[in-house]
Amino acid sequence: MVRLSSLRRNLRIYIPVLLFLLAIITVLSITQLREQTENSILYSDVDTVLLVAEPITPIPLQLDLDARKIELGDRLFHDPILSSNDTISCASCHSIDRGGTDGLSASVGMLGANTGLNSPTVFNSGFHFRLNWDGRAATLEEQIDGPITAEKEMGGMSWSDVVDKLSQSPEYANSFTEIYPEGITSDNIKNAIAVFQRSLYTPNAAFDKYLRGDEAAISAEAKEGYSLFKSYGCITCHQGMLVGGNMFQTLGIFGDYFADRGQVTKADLGRYNVTQDDRDRHVFKVPSLRNVTLTSPYFHDGNPQTLDQAIKLMGKYQLGVDIPQQDIDLIIEFLRTLQGEYQGKPL
Ligand code: HEC
Ligand code: HEC
Repeated sequence: MVRLSSLRRNLRIYIPVLLFLLAIITVLSITQLREQTENSILYSDVDTVLLVAEPITPIPLQLDLDARKIELGDRLFHDPILSSNDTISCASCHSIDRGGTDGLSASVGMLGANTGLNSPTVFNSGFHFRLNWDGRAATLEEQIDGPITAEKEMGGMSWSDVVDKLSQSPEYANSFTEIYPEGITSDNIKNAIAVFQRSLYTPNAAFDKYLRGDEAAISAEAKEGYSLFKSYGCITCHQGMLVGGNMFQTLGIFGDYFADRGQVTKADLGRYNVTQDDRDRHVFKVPSLRNVTLTSPYFHDGNPQTLDQAIKLMGKYQLGVDIPQQDIDLIIEFLRTLQGEYQGKPL
């Protein structure tokens, strides 16, 4: 009896605690469910059933994005009005006709300034887990602060300068108020450019067709190359929908890439510049290999000029192996199949 009454007393204490915990769990799972639904609205993939289960997944065939924002963002992306002296647009360094890059080892910005970094492609940038080589931006919206306010890139205007400048254009003023109730604001400028960049996804690559079950979509050489890509261990870093773009890794695990190359710069410190943590020295976002045949030169330093050289260096410094030429050629055959389509045409 004594036991039972103490149990009852305990229950009186525990039941409210349990109910409280239950309430928290319910709220958390509802929030999660809502986030999932929001993502699935953004990335509404038509076919989620894959016939082949692989560590690489296809790019959605269709995304649900606001066409008016894409159009406005496209205009802004190509307009040098966003630079201090009207000479440089986002497209100067990220040409849509050049795989989303500028083809230079290091991008050249305002008045010929050397940015000291290779410009990554803007294609599929909406899917990256972080932006920039050192991953310092969490979203496309946040990333845009970089080029706009960096002296060396677009001349270092402040956002209020940009808003003032755009507000003088009746066309922009009209376009903005048609879409955004608040008209031209820095948030709305960033939003339009970001939505345009999210529209730069490249589905329907031969490899994606293969993943969706079309065995004949890629050649026997490409299949062999993919097999090597997995067996050498490239896949441990380059994986997921983008074949990269979802983790940070050190450049130079099996050797000192930087000592061998020489002339170490601040940009070579990679993620260390963001965190000041010694473990982040020479750590970079693993780049996506989607459309990689179109985006030479390679790495954050634009040092390897060809895919061939990039893969050799990857073997040496990331895997500690000397990859024979015939395997490199087969891996390139596989990488070619990652070239997708933009607006229904091959990139
Ligand atoms: C002067 C050349 C230049 C201009 C102009 C420029 N960029 Fe870039 N962009 C770069 C370079 C270089 C990087 C890499 C920066 C880094 O990693 O710190 C980059 C990085 C990016 C990334 C990150 C991609 C990734 O995979 O992480 C995006 C997105 C981007 N730029 C969009 C833009 C937009 C939008 C504009 C215009 C507002 C713009 N860029 C203007 C050179 C440029
Ligand atoms: C331990 C992780 C890791 C492994 C394993 C790895 N990579 Fe990389 N890869 C990276 C990182 C990090 C970079 C970026 C280096 C930089 O920014 O300078 C990169 C860059 C590249 C690039 C250049 C892409 C660009 O746009 O600049 C190619 C191509 C590439 N890797 C292919 C491969 C291949 C092929 C293999 C296997 C033989 C491989 N990688 C293995 C981490 C890895």
